[in-house]
Amino acid sequence: MKTLLKNGILVDSKANLLIEDNIISYIGLEEPAADQVLSLQNHLVLPAMIDPHVHVRGLQQKDKEDWQTASLAAINGGVATIFDMPNTLPPTNSLENFELKLKEAKENSLVDFRLHLGANGHNKEELNSILKHYRQYVGGIKVFLAGSSSNEIVQNPQHLTDIFEFAAQHDLVVLVHSELQSCLQKWQQQIGEQSILNHSYIRNRECALAGTKLAVETAKKVGNKLYICHVSTKEEIEYLRKYKTDYIYCEVTPHHLCLDEEILRLVGNFGKVNPPLRTTEDTRALWQGIKDGTVDVIGSDHAPHHLEEKIQSYRKAPSGFPGLETTLPVILDKASECDISCSRIQKLTSQKVAEIFQLKKVGKLEIGYKANIVIVDINQTQPLIAAFFQSKAKYSPFDGYVSKVKIEKTIVEGKVY
Ligand code: DOR
Ligand code: ZN
Repeated sequence: MKTLLKNGILVDSKANLLIEDNIISYIGLEEPAADQVLSLQNHLVLPAMIDPHVHVRGLQQKDKEDWQTASLAAINGGVATIFDMPNTLPPTNSLENFELKLKEAKENSLVDFRLHLGANGHNKEELNSILKHYRQYVGGIKVFLAGSSSNEIVQNPQHLTDIFEFAAQHDLVVLVHSELQSCLQKWQQQIGEQSILNHSYIRNRECALAGTKLAVETAKKVGNKLYICHVSTKEEIEYLRKYKTDYIYCEVTPHHLCLDEEILRLVGNFGKVNPPLRTTEDTRALWQGIKDGTVDVIGSDHAPHHLEEKIQSYRKAPSGFPGLETTLPVILDKASECDISCSRIQKLTSQKVAEIFQLKKVGKLEIGYKANIVIVDINQTQPLIAAFFQSKAKYSPFDGYVSKVKIEKTIVEGKVY
């Protein structure tokens, strides 16, 4: 089967691209014969997003999201590869639990996937056996320095060092949720009024910086690859700009880039997320981090919960919201406003992710690479309507946002959706 993508803008220059079965076999100005031709005047052709930060759920939380709905959401959002987070029920912290999750993912996922492992300071042997049998399905090792959503917490600095050493031995990346639990507890006790409008004060910015510093200092001691998830504050960006090395990576999310805490007055707990939405000064600093190269990756932090759970009181409502279907439309929309090029976006949403997690033959449009591609119509707008999401979680702080571009098609290993 041959599919020709004709006259598209391939990242930043016009060309034709031929897909043979699941591989890119030609890029250039000629028009090779094909069984199917997609005429792409005024369309951007980019490598599909590789999303390193997805809470797929499934297992005992299939009611929140499962591998089928998560992968349909991915396709709807231009994402062809997802990395699943381990804070599931049961968590991805043992061989038995890993096998349960892998079976579900293999049977139901429509996109490529990797599974991050959960480290808790007591499961080195289990992680070892997973790696022995299933290394090709493993993303990295996730560590939560604070409680957020049914996750295990690592609080002992020696455990953190042990996990980092284990990762270094296996050439694995450690992903860290870097809010520091002891710091969060201190602030929680200090603050009287518990309300969504205080969320960013309760889960204080000081705790995010403290966790990021601890993770970076530990990684520098050990020499392992470190990936700081969802950096949310100006201070973290400034710290990382100064102290980051070539084995320390920084992720930001579309919500921390594009929304600030003011929106909570409108969307309430639909915007409750950890780390919290911050201030306009922070969003500006994150964009600056994108411009100057401090930020390596944009991840969605897709974290679906029931709508009924989210409309409970502030204390009861879980944190997180779906992101797979909003990330690319929002980022492509804002990037054009912020004068950020398509090739920079391509690096942040696919190429760099493939490099960090050592995925082969994805993340770029090159001959011999997998045909994982997103086609974007730059002459059509796309309103983001949560009620129409493929995700089971049909709400979003971006609900009603109109992107200046439209995700038209996602191609996953040559299959056009
Ligand atoms: O808001 C969040 N939701 N932050 C996390 O760290 C976890 C996530 C979830 O799993 O719901
Ligand atoms: Zn997350």
